[in-house]
Amino acid sequence: METQEMIDLCKQHSMYTWSAQGAVNPVPIERAEGIYLYQPDGKRILDWNSQLMSVNIGHSHPKVIAAMKAQLDKQLLYTWPGTATEPRARLSSLLAEIVPGDINTFFFTLSGAEANENAIKAARGFTGRHKILSRYRSYHGATNATMQLTGDPRRLANEPGMPGVVRIMDPWPLTWKWGDDDASIVDANLTYLEEVIHYEGPDTIAAMFIETVTGTNGILPPPKGYLKRLKALLEKYGILLVCDEVMAGFGRTGKLFAFEHGDIVPDIVTMAKGLTSSYIPLGAMGVSDRIAAHFKDNVFWGGLTYSAHALCCATAVANIEVMRDEKLVENSATLGAVMRSEMDRLTEKHPSVKVGRNIGLFGMIDVQKNSKGEPFAPYNGSHPVMNQLGKAFMDNGLFTFIRWGSFMNNPPLCITEEQLMEGFAIIDKCLDVTDEAFEG
Ligand SMILES: Cc1ncc(COP(=O)(O)O)c(C=O)c1O
Repeated sequence: METQEMIDLCKQHSMYTWSAQGAVNPVPIERAEGIYLYQPDGKRILDWNSQLMSVNIGHSHPKVIAAMKAQLDKQLLYTWPGTATEPRARLSSLLAEIVPGDINTFFFTLSGAEANENAIKAARGFTGRHKILSRYRSYHGATNATMQLTGDPRRLANEPGMPGVVRIMDPWPLTWKWGDDDASIVDANLTYLEEVIHYEGPDTIAAMFIETVTGTNGILPPPKGYLKRLKALLEKYGILLVCDEVMAGFGRTGKLFAFEHGDIVPDIVTMAKGLTSSYIPLGAMGVSDRIAAHFKDNVFWGGLTYSAHALCCATAVANIEVMRDEKLVENSATLGAVMRSEMDRLTEKHPSVKVGRNIGLFGMIDVQKNSKGEPFAPYNGSHPVMNQLGKAFMDNGLFTFIRWGSFMNNPPLCITEEQLMEGFAIIDKCLDVTDEAFEG
């Protein structure tokens, strides 16, 4: 098919996400391998965001493709969720082994949002309570309920949705600080949270959802000590902690799961994206042994036609094996240090770079229009200069997302140091665009 015909048909007959359809300008892609995307005209593009921070092992890994083909050849692709299959057995037992602590039981979904939807059900079923706490600087999915857990502006057009969600301020508000150091930030934020719990009635609150490391809303690792103290506070009131690791999980932060950085184990963990590196859709909700025990005698009121789809489970097993064999979580941690120093170098060099943050290969650079640190694009806004920066990245062979006044730095975890430097060299060059618009 001719490239233009392909683009036209996609635009004419399919709807794109989060867009007024007339404004969509899709990027034509023919294939992808390793850290690179290839366009129909042969142009190679460095995938600096692992697509949606999800192709963690890199594109088209031959071992995963072989495992998918082998599963096809076994003539076991789909059976209803009430069956026992080898891929389901292998994946659930493998997850029980690699997910830390007493999280040993998994409900399989097709996406991150569905994993969170089912975590709401599990938390409500287990506690007999209905309210859910979540945070403003968060994204938890685009289904009706998860849109309401979500704090970021994508929620607004989808309101009203599921009732019972109480959103609270994060440890990292956008324009002010809870304190000057991590300890005072944690103190102040959790004192406030405890007050909210009292206002809402502790006996009405089933769970609190957090992105262990906030993703699209800023790549924000929690302040030191936050996770441990948050878990203890919630436990005091019988409130479950749900760590949404849909984006932060599977090695992105330099640990298999981001909650390991805080030395905690949540009651429920949700995952998707990196679980199969997006080779095929799959999500999961993992629950602790005491929650699993509850659902031995009580019905879990959740179901999906494709729960534990055999081909998806087989793909996830192969993906996790590649991650282990190639030490990709370790690579994320090691190259996270290189990303850190490159971000510092760019901040030194470019007046328009305000700051870079990263944990492992999970990073964001904030751009500023003046020395007061004001962003070109405000919260939930855009700016022509940021659009020009995005265009410069693509023109120079680097794909990433511009997010308001910032841009993403989340390459596949299989990236080498040399390739990482190749990416930062492109960024270095393109930042001339924002430097030229810097007002001083
Ligand atoms: C933290 C987090 N939770 C949930 C989701 C929703 O996942 P999905 O798009 O697979 O439904 C996302 C997607 O970006 C995410 O980043």
